[in-house]
Amino acid sequence: MTIQEVLTKFHEVFGDEGSIGTFFAPGRVNLIGEHTDYNGGHVFPCALTLGIYGAMRKRDDRFLRFYSLDFPDEGITSSSLDELKPLQDKGWTAYPKGVVWAFDRRGFPLPTGFDLVIGGDIPIGSGLSSSAALEMLTGVALRALFGFDELSMKNLVGIGQFAENDYLGMQCGIMDQFASGMGKAGCAIYLDTARLVHTYAPLDLEDSTLVITNTKVKHELIGSPYNERREACALALKRFQNSLKISSLGAMTTDQFESYKDTLHDPILVKRARHAVYENFRTIQALSALQAGNMDRFGELMNASHVSLRDDYEVSCPELDLLAETAWEIPGVIGSRMTGGGFGGCTVSIVKNDSLAQFKEALTSAYQKKFDKCPEFYVVTPGDGARAIEA
Ligand code: GLA
Repeated sequence: MTIQEVLTKFHEVFGDEGSIGTFFAPGRVNLIGEHTDYNGGHVFPCALTLGIYGAMRKRDDRFLRFYSLDFPDEGITSSSLDELKPLQDKGWTAYPKGVVWAFDRRGFPLPTGFDLVIGGDIPIGSGLSSSAALEMLTGVALRALFGFDELSMKNLVGIGQFAENDYLGMQCGIMDQFASGMGKAGCAIYLDTARLVHTYAPLDLEDSTLVITNTKVKHELIGSPYNERREACALALKRFQNSLKISSLGAMTTDQFESYKDTLHDPILVKRARHAVYENFRTIQALSALQAGNMDRFGELMNASHVSLRDDYEVSCPELDLLAETAWEIPGVIGSRMTGGGFGGCTVSIVKNDSLAQFKEALTSAYQKKFDKCPEFYVVTPGDGARAIEA
């Protein structure tokens, strides 16, 4: 996909008069720190160079018109600024509409509607945050076209999450919007979600490559047990707070967890909280490993993260497990784990360049044998965050 294709389509469906803004927002892959963002822990994602391209033009009435190159059969869909319905809206246009709604709620109502055409090269529903990319794309486009210059990128990140939480009803944390908005080429983003403080860690993989493998099992978080996991963590925190002064599971040490876990009086809550606490700890260690150039340690932490997501947090699935477990057996695979919310989607692996062909072959053959279909591979590099681009 290119911005030229999107712009050409815009001219075709909406005409070429007036000034049209062109934008891009990336998807993300999380290296480690899964299901820690709504627990006040650390995450370690990077923005991708894959994402969503969009062209937007202001209208002079209150209509909103949408067209997606990814869903050409839907044609043009229209709506109005006066009929935005939180928690009822469905389909891809609910994301940009949710962002419009969130702008309004945050004190930035749109005076008029707009026409929007989008097209992406990020696989939809694969756990690479096509939703957050669409939210951030809408955010940067509205800011530019309607002159909301006082909004910082972090404000737009917050608006994106607000839209997803309160318009779409998916209680996600801040990671995906943050990565899509604040990404930096060549770097992973180490983010403390409790304080919303981040640092960029150069991801210099030298003789290795970052590879995403798509199970092609659709990962749909709205209506999934995602919100349930979040509630379990909130309940565990509440119980711990009877004995401990902590503001989040991310503020808890592993020693504290071990000393107080029995006060949860529920084996499921122990598993969920153990993941949250130890995953945060692994993410902190992963930054040190990366900074020390100790990629083997980084890989071990990635693998341990997968095991914890599989066994304690229970958000993996047989397809993700097979991909990760097969990868672990291949010499030259530094680390491999499921990435994103889970219940389908993708794994992320760091693989020595020399072993890449073997990696793809082994995973394809194991996957085909067990699930009778082929996984898809994307070799990726960290890219920049959401922005206006030249067409
Ligand atoms: C989804 C959510 C994120 C995060 C991950 C799990 O991608 O949108 O906020 O919770 O799952 O790490």
